[in-house]
Amino acid sequence: MEFDITLPEISVDVVPNPKGDRIYFLPKGHDPIKNVAEDEFSGSVGDSLLLRDRRGKLYYAGVGGDPIIKLDTYRKASSMAARALQSKGSTTLTFVCPGDHFDVSPIVEGALIGLYRYEAFLDDAAKSKSTVTKIQIAVDAPNLGFARQQADKAIALGSANNWTRELGNTPANVMTPANLAKAAQSMAQNYGLKCTIFEEKELSKQGFGGILAVGQGSRNPPRLVVLEAINGKKSQAKICVVGKAITFDSGGLNLKTGNSMADMKFDKMGGCAVLGIMRALAEMGTRKNVVGILAIAENMPSGNAYRPSDIITTYDGKTIEIINTDAEGRIVLADAIAYARKKFNPHVLIELSTLTGSCMVALGHKRAGLFTEDKKIKDKLIRIGESTGDLVWPLPYGGEFDEDIKSEVATVKNVGDRYGGASFAASFLKKWADKTPFVHLDIAGPSYQTRSTPYSIKGASGFGVRLVTEYVLES
Ligand code: BES
Ligand code: ZN
Ligand code: ZN
Repeated sequence: MEFDITLPEISVDVVPNPKGDRIYFLPKGHDPIKNVAEDEFSGSVGDSLLLRDRRGKLYYAGVGGDPIIKLDTYRKASSMAARALQSKGSTTLTFVCPGDHFDVSPIVEGALIGLYRYEAFLDDAAKSKSTVTKIQIAVDAPNLGFARQQADKAIALGSANNWTRELGNTPANVMTPANLAKAAQSMAQNYGLKCTIFEEKELSKQGFGGILAVGQGSRNPPRLVVLEAINGKKSQAKICVVGKAITFDSGGLNLKTGNSMADMKFDKMGGCAVLGIMRALAEMGTRKNVVGILAIAENMPSGNAYRPSDIITTYDGKTIEIINTDAEGRIVLADAIAYARKKFNPHVLIELSTLTGSCMVALGHKRAGLFTEDKKIKDKLIRIGESTGDLVWPLPYGGEFDEDIKSEVATVKNVGDRYGGASFAASFLKKWADKTPFVHLDIAGPSYQTRSTPYSIKGASGFGVRLVTEYVLES
């Protein structure tokens, strides 16, 4: 079976004159709109007003009163406007660029992200009636060229972000490890990336004991996917981006209980983000050296499942004592990180995973946990997080946490104390990165949303695609 996912095409044009259904961004304290009282539209963030004139609908989006308005404020306002007008039947939207030399990319990204809906399995009759097919950005003639460049970059990011969401929203009965690998392969073919897929036999031959152990309880066998985009100079830094892709995390023999299993098709979002990052970079024609790696498995209980007390030998020979089969992400990642280090010797290894419930407890659904010892990388990721809207916050690891994952029978055990779970998991992963500069992003919270936000509908968010793509572009 061929496995491919395509989303509806939305064209994006840069035009000199605003026509049709138009969106204006207005700050707080703007000149009042004709015939509109201040209390009807104040210009605060999230505030909006829909009017109509001879030429079409007019949507005013408030962007607040800060002296410097954040890029992410425009992204959110644009997303809200696009959704509101789409639901009113608009098919073409014209965003009026709010200033000279204004970076239009958050407007385009916001609109694309806002317009995304997950409808793959809906009956035709239930699918949305109205669909925006065209977005226009109206800018003054001298800025057309610059705006076109920014828009192209934003299209690459926005559509990669939505594709990541579509992969993520696809349930585990359809998005099996083999099908996720196929989706990676077909993307790689479209964008001219080198793609290597390790199936069970190869995994076993090369000693990927972690991925095999986690995958052995499922009838859908595991995969390791490696995507290579070595397009920069030889002397240029090499970046490896590694993702956890558990297509479904039932917990294994330590079966999850109650509601905690419900969202576990999203346990593949780290890997899906890696695919989105590789796609966005390829679409932009980025000249960098980047390798994307996905550790893919389904964590299921069965007569063949791995057990608490098993001892697993991973790719680099380090061993793991299994305490809890639900702490499976770090086990598949141990193999993938060791492989990335040994095979590619990268200057930096960035790893994304929906790793721990405790990180979500600590930081909620908006921010990812950031673990790294490198202060420069840390500051850079925090700054890019603010501008892309993929927010992160630093947490500690190593040191005192290392003590608690010591095992009497193996290199380490896979679970530490109940409290500080996110830091134990990060400390575990660090061992497999060894001396390679390492960044771990625990995206358990922000990788999916349990309700619609001003930004987008509930479900997979594509967190990490914009953050890491921008990081790579800046390195
Ligand atoms: N996939 C989960 C973490 C998770 C929880 C992601 C909620 C998204 C939302 C992970 O594999 C897991 O089950 N972790 C356990 C570890 C524990 C057994 C040490 C956890 O966090 O409870
Ligand atoms: Zn788990
Ligand atoms: Zn998991």
